[in-house]
Amino acid sequence: MAIHPRPLKFPRNFVWGLATAAPQIEGAAFTDGKGSSIWDTFARQPGKVKNGDNLDVACDHYHLFKKDFALMAALGAKNYRLSIAWPRIFPTGRGAVNRKGLDFYQRLIDSMLAHGLTPWVTMFHWDLPQALEDDFGGWRDRRTADAFATYADTIVITYGDRVKNWITLNEIVCFTRMGYGTGLKAPGLKLPEQIVNQTYHNALLAHGHGLRAVREHGGKGARVGITDNIENSIPLTETPADIAAAKAQFVTANTRVLEPIFKGRYNPAYLRAAGADAPKFSAGDLEHISRPTDFLGLNVYWGDFVKAGKNGHPEVLPFPPSFPTTDAVWQRHTPQSMYWGPRMVAEIYGVKSIYITENGAGYLDPPHSKTPIHDLHRRDYVRNYLRELHRAIRDGVPVKGYFLWSFMDNFEWEDGYDIRFGVVHCDFKTQRRTPKLSARWYSEVMSANAIV
Ligand code: NOJ
Repeated sequence: MAIHPRPLKFPRNFVWGLATAAPQIEGAAFTDGKGSSIWDTFARQPGKVKNGDNLDVACDHYHLFKKDFALMAALGAKNYRLSIAWPRIFPTGRGAVNRKGLDFYQRLIDSMLAHGLTPWVTMFHWDLPQALEDDFGGWRDRRTADAFATYADTIVITYGDRVKNWITLNEIVCFTRMGYGTGLKAPGLKLPEQIVNQTYHNALLAHGHGLRAVREHGGKGARVGITDNIENSIPLTETPADIAAAKAQFVTANTRVLEPIFKGRYNPAYLRAAGADAPKFSAGDLEHISRPTDFLGLNVYWGDFVKAGKNGHPEVLPFPPSFPTTDAVWQRHTPQSMYWGPRMVAEIYGVKSIYITENGAGYLDPPHSKTPIHDLHRRDYVRNYLRELHRAIRDGVPVKGYFLWSFMDNFEWEDGYDIRFGVVHCDFKTQRRTPKLSARWYSEVMSANAIV
């Protein structure tokens, strides 16, 4: 008897896409009036970014976008998540608008549409205008959120006739705690906990402004959400006790961002634990932050295993040294995070519409190659995660789309250009793009609407 594997089909109208972000691909860091961002500055400080790499040229997408969109279209992509660079629109973060910056995204969006690509636009993907850092202390001060409000209004008014899917902010923890607390990311500061908590709060205020901008100016059919990189808790075994423990752990780990947005409050346990370090806020702030969103974006890369310890208390398990990772060492191979993360936000916060706005794999693929890169490692990483996503949807979790990170190799923040997440290889010397095996495979997934 011949046995035919049954393809794991996704629901009809499932959104498949590719993702990037402006500072990681555009280059042209000082072209056509763009202001410096805190990442332009950070990358110039010795020892902050691997190999002293910077964002000046990156993939030169600023000049090559038409070719890039043609390649995306050739791969069969229909949806593309990108970000707009705030310092291109307002070189000093506020004040006079930079016409050339506005015009650049007009051309970009028109070209995208001409190539059959639906834009999913992130308003802020970490590239804060340096002037806001210098003048206000960046996210430490709520005037940065006020400046964001004007920026959000401006881009929604300008592009809202063609852009219908908006994401306010990308991964709050990465530009708050990691920028102002651990100092691993720009602006590279190590400040006390109260200040870090305040940066979260100001970021949430900005999210509220982005939301408001879309409601006021987005026009017909506009939708808006935020992208969060939740800390995923994976029950060690899928038994009621471990699941309950993992959920409790999930609430504690994600309280700073999800609770204000979806419950309009800071969790009392969080406020108690923070004590004098708690953020300062007013009730009006929380109302502003918790206006209803249309979807939640999740960037899912890995998760912790959690078991029910003594009296059912959650116990986060340490990873043994040999636990498999990609070449980005933080990226543990934990496909179950793609099941449990979406499921928990649906169950705990009642989220009705979820998009995986990022998932992908970082490896040290060769910088130059005469033949297409045979990245079975990346293909299999993504494939395993997609199987878990399929399982989540089968179990009723409302995931509506998936964006692979990333379309092409790009500037991987403090890791510079060594770690590559692209399914398309970028030779940074020649700017040649070459689809890897994973791109060919993902192209088939998108067209079959199934895991192939
Ligand atoms: C999340 C970030 O949004 C993106 O900018 C980054 O490159 C990927 N993770 C991989 O680390």
